[in-house]
Amino acid sequence: MRKKTAVMPFLLALAAVTIAGLSATAAPAQQTTQGETSQKAKPPARDSCITSECHATLDKDRFVHGPVAAGECTVCHGKSPQHRDRPAEYRFAKIKDTAAACYKCHEQFKPKKFTHTPVADGECTACHSPHGSPNKFQLLGKGGALCFDCHDEELVAGKFVHGPAAVGGCIACHEPHTADYAKNLRAEGPALCFMCHTDKADALHKAAFVHKPVSDNCIKCHNPHSAAKQFMLRSRVPALCLNCHKDKKEQISTVSVKHGAVETGRSCLNCHDAHMSDIPKNLLMEPMDLCLNCHDRQYRLADGGKLMNMKKWLADNKNHHGPVKQKDCSACHNPHGSNNFRILRKPYPPTFYMAFSISNYDLCFSCHEKTIVLDPETTKLTDFRNGDMNLHFKHVNKPIKGRTCRACHETHASNFPKHIRESVPFGSWELPVNYRKTETGGSCAPGCHKLKKYDRVQKEING
Ligand code: HEC
Ligand code: HEC
Ligand code: HEC
Ligand code: HEC
Ligand code: HEC
Ligand code: HEC
Ligand code: HEC
Ligand code: HEC
Ligand code: HEC
Ligand code: HEC
Ligand code: HEC
Ligand code: HEC
Ligand code: HEC
Repeated sequence: MRKKTAVMPFLLALAAVTIAGLSATAAPAQQTTQGETSQKAKPPARDSCITSECHATLDKDRFVHGPVAAGECTVCHGKSPQHRDRPAEYRFAKIKDTAAACYKCHEQFKPKKFTHTPVADGECTACHSPHGSPNKFQLLGKGGALCFDCHDEELVAGKFVHGPAAVGGCIACHEPHTADYAKNLRAEGPALCFMCHTDKADALHKAAFVHKPVSDNCIKCHNPHSAAKQFMLRSRVPALCLNCHKDKKEQISTVSVKHGAVETGRSCLNCHDAHMSDIPKNLLMEPMDLCLNCHDRQYRLADGGKLMNMKKWLADNKNHHGPVKQKDCSACHNPHGSNNFRILRKPYPPTFYMAFSISNYDLCFSCHEKTIVLDPETTKLTDFRNGDMNLHFKHVNKPIKGRTCRACHETHASNFPKHIRESVPFGSWELPVNYRKTETGGSCAPGCHKLKKYDRVQKEING
């Protein structure tokens, strides 16, 4: 509120002018200009006060109020003691209750559930001239100017201004008098916006998943008037999102391995649609397509490391790991970042060797039986055995220099059975694995040792 206090003195002044103007019968009304007084006056209607001498311009405005045009001054002014020297019908009085006068003929603006304060206060003439004005509906100002007489222009001072607010189309959204909705709005929630944004309305109605705040109220994210951020957003993404998604805020700010996708470009909007989607979690594409949309190239990491081109790898290696077959990259990776190497959801060793502890392999054993590395001897827990000697146990389960799964397995895809690798990085050397599978066992001739075979039925002596 800016000029509210200025309004009352204005009305008082107006009232004073009324009295002064009406008492000085011979003098033309205050706002009469030279040009207009010299205009040829039309003969006064029988009960009209408009003559070439008196109130001559009262009905000369572009938009003249019905009763004024009809010369019916007394319906509002009644009879005036100041005009005692004139015929009875010319005797006007100061109007005590303006609104009551207006309601005589316009009772549709009687206060409703929500009433604009000046209307509730009976100040019809704060916005309308009772006689006439250059503006439609005898308004005292055009568009936003009318409103900014009382309201702060700050509303539309943001760098990005909403189309209708920019051109003073305030009443496209607000009823100037009374309304069924708070803030004198013409509709509630998204329905207000859908009055104009019909394309968004269509898209939202068709979408399988709508973001909760979007179906609640668009203004949770958009300022309806103006804002410092593009699209009149209340803050920039990701801050906008993280204001509500506190758990994500906490997670993203504390994780030690951050995901480039969150940190760069459009941040959350790299993967999510702010409004709606046909894919769960408001994703822009099917989850795996989303990942491969970026991971279709090599990335260089800040620490100098490189990430492979995953899309190419999956195309070149036909034997895909179960969850990759299910197109579920998030089964193992947390797209928002993690405290584990490679944004993995659970621990998995980043190195070729590691002292054995079951918790180092939580990732793999969240889906696979951990018994494959716990029992030295078995006849059923794993197929990687020589007779009953568990070769998983033998390679992995060591207090020092246990081989990690990566020494033998690919995580995403491979052209060998059981996701065995073709080769494994060992320092700067790509150590070959040379795996051959047989009906009852297999063999490898890796860079670690000479050719070795295993057989579940006929125990190999080299095992
Ligand atoms: C719809 C009601 C209404 C009608 C009809 C009306 N007036 Fe007014 N008039 C007002 C109001 C309201 C004021 C503001 C001052 C007040 O509240 O007393 C006013 C003020 C005036 C003033 C004071 C100066 C000014 O212009 O503000 C004059 C003079 C005046 N009217 C003359 C007339 C004459 C002459 C007619 C007939 C041609 C007329 N009025 C018809 C409502 C009306
Ligand atoms: C004696 C009846 C009467 C009174 C009292 C009256 N009006 Fe009117 N008003 C009319 C008539 C008649 C019209 C012309 C309606 C039309 O053109 O459709 C009109 C038109 C208007 C319009 C423009 C509407 C339009 O569709 O163009 C406004 C605004 C208005 N009046 C405001 C007021 C205000 C404010 C007051 C009180 C100060 C008031 N009226 C008092 C009869 C009255
Ligand atoms: C805050 C400013 C404001 C106040 C106060 C106000 N009006 Fe209005 N009025 C408007 C605006 C703006 C319009 C034009 C609405 C439109 O274009 O739809 C309007 C339109 C009108 C109309 C014609 C359009 C219609 O919907 O019939 C009438 C009659 C009217 N007002 C009467 C009144 C009366 C009577 C009061 C006092 C009870 C009043 N107004 C108080 C701003 C105001
Ligand atoms: C004569 C002064 C005046 C004019 C002109 C005026 N307003 Fe107001 N308006 C007020 C006052 C007083 C309030 C109540 C105080 C507040 O909430 O700031 C108010 C409140 C509002 C509110 C908030 C309502 C609520 O429930 O909180 C809206 C929206 C509004 N006005 C819109 C408009 C629009 C749009 C215009 C122009 C068509 C306009 N106003 C013109 C005086 C005015
Ligand atoms: C696109 C619709 C739209 C337009 C156009 C619009 N407003 Fe609003 N306005 C709103 C909504 C929605 C709110 C409620 C905001 C809220 O509750 O936070 C509002 C609130 C307000 C308020 C109350 C402020 C408050 O913080 O409670 C005022 C005053 C106001 N508008 C004035 C205006 C003025 C003046 C214009 C024209 C320059 C205008 N509005 C144009 C939708 C609009
Ligand atoms: C009276 C019609 C109208 C209403 C109601 C309306 N808008 Fe708009 N809106 C527009 C127009 C016109 C534009 C400018 C379109 C353009 O520049 O392409 C616009 C632009 C926008 C933009 C920026 C689009 C861009 O590409 O820059 C956003 C965001 C927006 N509106 C959101 C809203 C929200 C939220 C609401 C409800 C609170 C709403 N609008 C209600 C008419 C409206
Ligand atoms: C959760 C926050 C949020 C909510 C709620 C929200 N929006 Fe948006 N909106 C955004 C973001 C973020 C953008 C910017 C998108 C971009 O950069 O592509 C945007 C952009 C827009 C745009 C301009 C670009 C476009 O997509 O056309 C319009 C128009 C728009 N929103 C309308 C709406 C409407 C209408 C509603 C309510 C039905 C709404 N928004 C609710 C966050 C939101
Ligand atoms: C005004 C608060 C608010 C803002 C701002 C917000 N959200 Fe949401 N979001 C929610 C609520 C509430 C839910 C529903 C949560 C639920 O159902 O548990 C939700 C759900 C989601 C979901 C899960 C959808 C699903 O189907 O389970 C995603 C993804 C999401 N938001 C992303 C975002 C992104 C990205 C942004 C920023 C562009 C954002 N949110 C901004 C409140 C918000
Ligand atoms: C790399 C793509 C990507 C980015 C960037 C991203 N998300 Fe997500 N988000 C996803 C995927 C995929 C899911 C579904 C995960 C799942 O199914 O477990 C998801 C799920 C969510 C959910 C639903 C709750 C949950 O954890 O399952 C919310 C809320 C969410 N994201 C918010 C955000 C916010 C906020 C941002 C920005 C700070 C963001 N996301 C950035 C891909 C992303
Ligand atoms: C079964 C769990 C799992 C699934 C499912 C999975 N990943 Fe991985 N991902 C890993 C592991 C473990 C690593 C670390 C591998 C390593 O360093 O040897 C990794 C590493 C990566 C890397 C880094 C590669 C590099 O060169 O260091 C990218 C990129 C990646 N994954 C993307 C994806 C994408 C995209 C998907 C879905 C198509 C996906 N992942 C599915 C477990 C998985
Ligand atoms: C918008 C592009 C984009 C999308 C979408 C995307 N990523 Fe990434 N991802 C990157 C970038 C850029 C990096 C390199 C990050 C860095 O510099 O830390 C990266 C890094 C990674 C890493 C290695 C992290 C590390 O620092 O060790 C993995 C693993 C990964 N992404 C998996 C995924 C998965 C899974 C998805 C799908 C849920 C996905 N990405 C979607 C851009 C993307
Ligand atoms: C999200 C669950 C999940 C995680 C985590 C997971 N896997 Fe798998 N894995 C599967 C599924 C499902 C299959 C397919 C099983 C089938 O086809 O019978 C599979 C198959 C395999 C196979 C081939 C088995 C066969 O009989 O063909 C190997 C080897 C394997 N995973 C190793 C690993 C390793 C090593 C890890 C840890 C980096 C791991 N998996 C993490 C779900 C998972
Ligand atoms: C020294 C190489 C090597 C290491 C290290 C290794 N594996 Fe294997 N793994 C194999 C071979 C070879 C097979 C195939 C056995 C067969 O079917 O003949 C296999 C099979 C599997 C299978 C399929 C089921 C089974 O046991 O037959 C799973 C699951 C599996 N490995 C998980 C893991 C996990 C998890 C790790 C790390 C904790 C790991 N492997 C470490 C060589 C290895």
